[in-house]
Amino acid sequence: MKVLSIIGARPQFIKEAMIQKEIIKHKNIEEVVVHTGQHYDRNMSEIFFDTLNLKAPKYNLEIHNTTHGEMTGRMIIELEKIICKELPDIVLLYGDTNSTLAGAIAASKLNVMIAHVEAGIRQFPKTIPEEINRCLVDRVSNIHFCPSELELKNLVNEGLGKGNILISGDVMYDLFIYMKNKFDYSIIDDLNLRENDYIVVTLHRDFNVDNIEVLKSILEQLNKLSYELKIVFPIHPRTKKRIKQFNLESYLNNILVLNPLNYLQLMGLTEKCFKVITDSGGYQKEAYFCKKHACVLMPDSGWKILVDYKWNTLCDASNLIQSIFIKNKETLNNNVYGNGDASARIINFLLKTY
Ligand code: UD1
Repeated sequence: MKVLSIIGARPQFIKEAMIQKEIIKHKNIEEVVVHTGQHYDRNMSEIFFDTLNLKAPKYNLEIHNTTHGEMTGRMIIELEKIICKELPDIVLLYGDTNSTLAGAIAASKLNVMIAHVEAGIRQFPKTIPEEINRCLVDRVSNIHFCPSELELKNLVNEGLGKGNILISGDVMYDLFIYMKNKFDYSIIDDLNLRENDYIVVTLHRDFNVDNIEVLKSILEQLNKLSYELKIVFPIHPRTKKRIKQFNLESYLNNILVLNPLNYLQLMGLTEKCFKVITDSGGYQKEAYFCKKHACVLMPDSGWKILVDYKWNTLCDASNLIQSIFIKNKETLNNNVYGNGDASARIINFLLKTY
């Protein structure tokens, strides 16, 4: 069986990591990896290949830094050529980025079987780019791998419940367990931080960072909070550009701003923090894996179970500080997203279906 994996953005390197380790165990599977180039800074891309021991992609399309339409369109053109050349049996797609959507369109038009890892996630508003990507990708996928039962229900509600579906668990949880004993805590000492005494912030969604008023009000709150608790802010390049463009740098004066961290550093930092503030889909879940609560700067979350159980809290700038001091639930079942064997279950299902 020949599998073509399409990845391009930071969270996809993380999702691909354990799938790749699983595929290597099977002599009858060949995997070709395509990197679309969507993320390209060393600390947004290469560093993940190094720390997660990912094999170098056979192709790097180097498509980035442009509008959604142009990015997706150029990716489709190039991916179509690669699929025609490689003739894979299955195209494997991860998550909800523009790279995922481009892969789905290219493969479906060529009638190649598509398997979607992280299928069935849904969130409001329906207009955010990731939600548009997910819905379209699920619509044309032939095999859906859902992290939990909720995502399966979402697919059923949309009439997509009759195909090949597996509640696989979450590949990000697999990686978390696999890498746990390698987490890097050195940054805590380097920054002179104390356990449970600091907050980790990540911020990059268009609805939070592309509008000057919204970004300003979030930074105002973070600045206020920084006089009560230390704030560590590994900054996404998009957010860094916006803060400079909108002239908001002064709000960061009391905040420990870092370049984006690698996976092992971010998990080490998170395991010892007080709470997380984030608008990242993956990181709000990783906070839960680290047994930490996340204030999620979003109107809704794709990872609804964590919010419904009152582990994570949805918020915006107006109630950000309040939500940091909420007393969240103290315990939550460890197995919401599986047992750490999602990748093995996914590969076995592919072999069986193929
Ligand atoms: C993308 C995904 C989002 C995911 C996020 C993880 C889409 C629609 N969104 O958002 O689902 O949560 O990745 O980070 O695909 N940039 C750099 N260097 C980089 C990467 C990005 O400078 O290595 C800049 C780009 O030039 C662009 C901006 O950041 O100006 C946004 O990058 P883009 O890949 O379009 O979207 P993300 O915000 O990273």
